[in-house]
Amino acid sequence: MLKELLKERDYLSPVLMSDGTAASSDSWQKRRREMLELLSRHSYGYTPDIPCQVFGKVAEHSGISYAGKVTEEKIEITLECGMGSFTFPIMLYIPKRVKKPPVFLHLAFRPVADRYIPLEEICDNGFAVAVLVYTDAVNDNHYMDFNDGIAKFFGVTHPRAETEWGKIGMWAYAASRVMDYLVSFRYDELDINRVCVIGHSRLGKTALWAGAQDERFWCTVSNNSGYGGAASSKCGKGERIDDFIRLGSDEWFCENFKKYKGELEDKKPYDQAFLTALIAPRLLCVGSAAEDRGADPIGEFFTTLNASSAWELLGERGLVCPDRLPTPGDFFPDGKVCYHLRAGRHFLSREDWNFYMRFLKEKISLGY
Ligand code: GCU
Repeated sequence: MLKELLKERDYLSPVLMSDGTAASSDSWQKRRREMLELLSRHSYGYTPDIPCQVFGKVAEHSGISYAGKVTEEKIEITLECGMGSFTFPIMLYIPKRVKKPPVFLHLAFRPVADRYIPLEEICDNGFAVAVLVYTDAVNDNHYMDFNDGIAKFFGVTHPRAETEWGKIGMWAYAASRVMDYLVSFRYDELDINRVCVIGHSRLGKTALWAGAQDERFWCTVSNNSGYGGAASSKCGKGERIDDFIRLGSDEWFCENFKKYKGELEDKKPYDQAFLTALIAPRLLCVGSAAEDRGADPIGEFFTTLNASSAWELLGERGLVCPDRLPTPGDFFPDGKVCYHLRAGRHFLSREDWNFYMRFLKEKISLGY
């Protein structure tokens, strides 16, 4: 049944090369480059390729957080590139009882533990958490405000060139710089081979673009990421490009993104399954909420299913699920691609975190 539905929807396949021939495990790196190129050119813009040195300074340290179970640090991350330096803060929470814990890199809306993150529970489950507040990398003011943070540092032009990066690209770039810091300076205390980047909504889109570009991320979790994230941009039932333009959030993408608005929407030369397929053969978890109509939960499911062919091409199990559409409460963690559909609205809930932790713990127990 699902195969027919996938066919009917006529999605673009991540395992067909641009010339129409089938990709193979040998040509996968070439296919990766094609998909990165399409997504950069038409959706997120190009990430600057400027070598920078990254280092961090522990600005605050406490050993008494969460009943003394957790070490809490504020770290100033600095990138030093030819044109100067840029500094932004992160928080790092490390459970004391675990030796070299795996890490969630949480792309967060607000500083400190907010309603989207049950921090004590996550640390009790044996995970460390790095928190990057997205607006510390660049503002989210809408309507083309590229006047601070990474945008200012890299000198975004006004108006932007067609393929110059948008804010999703900048937030994803910051996530990779946090990864640079963890890999270079915290490898003694943290399992830096098991860093999972996670975000909700616009930050779920960001987590996917970070995980797609930066192969050091062991796992990528997108929660209710919707359009520009895990939801297919074809035959979609949720948001459209016009909605982003109306809200001023088209600045999250590059200028070219707008070219496919309206009737051209279904004619895009790329689809979101390209984004999720770029995470293969690593771990991917896509979480949807049944009442989140804007994010098109069933569109998110189909993208996940479609992208799964990339894992299969590489000899891995992708999404393992029954041959039917998902219903609320479904959780499909058996392959390297996981999908879950929660009842309720747009939110990153405790229930979601528990699904994600279950998925990761199972994979860790299998040696992934
Ligand atoms: C808006 C936006 C969505 C986005 C969401 C969020 O609703 O249109 O695309 O995912 O905000 O980030 O909360």
